[in-house]
Amino acid sequence: MKRICYAAAPVAGSLNSIAHAEIDARAIAFNCRNCHAESQPGSESSIPSLENLSAQQIRQALLDFKYDKKPATLMPRLAKGYSDAELAAVAEYLNRN
Ligand code: HEC
Repeated sequence: MKRICYAAAPVAGSLNSIAHAEIDARAIAFNCRNCHAESQPGSESSIPSLENLSAQQIRQALLDFKYDKKPATLMPRLAKGYSDAELAAVAEYLNRN
């Protein structure tokens, strides 16, 4: 079995690999995009597009869903499955990529 202790390698590792070891924002974003695919012209999806939202807006919406400040159907259940730090990381990631 391959065991790697990322936490012990920060001196040698790049900052990127350290962040990656803690939160895999790309993997989380992959889930989001199952539903929030880029909007297509003429599509009648009831799932809002994230394209025109800033990282801050996405992050705030996720926290509001998680803490039941924003009524919704599905996102509150989903957001509760992630830590606040994970939600912030995925908001950043979605905004950049
Ligand atoms: C199973 C489908 C599904 C998945 C997976 C999903 N969403 Fe959503 N999302 C929705 C729906 C539906 C809404 C509308 C609010 C509601 O009813 O929950 C929404 C709303 C949102 C909004 C609010 C947008 C606005 O303009 O108000 C944000 C931000 C958002 N989602 C981000 C995410 C992120 C980030 C992820 C990944 C962690 C994600 N969503 C995963 C279906 C999904």
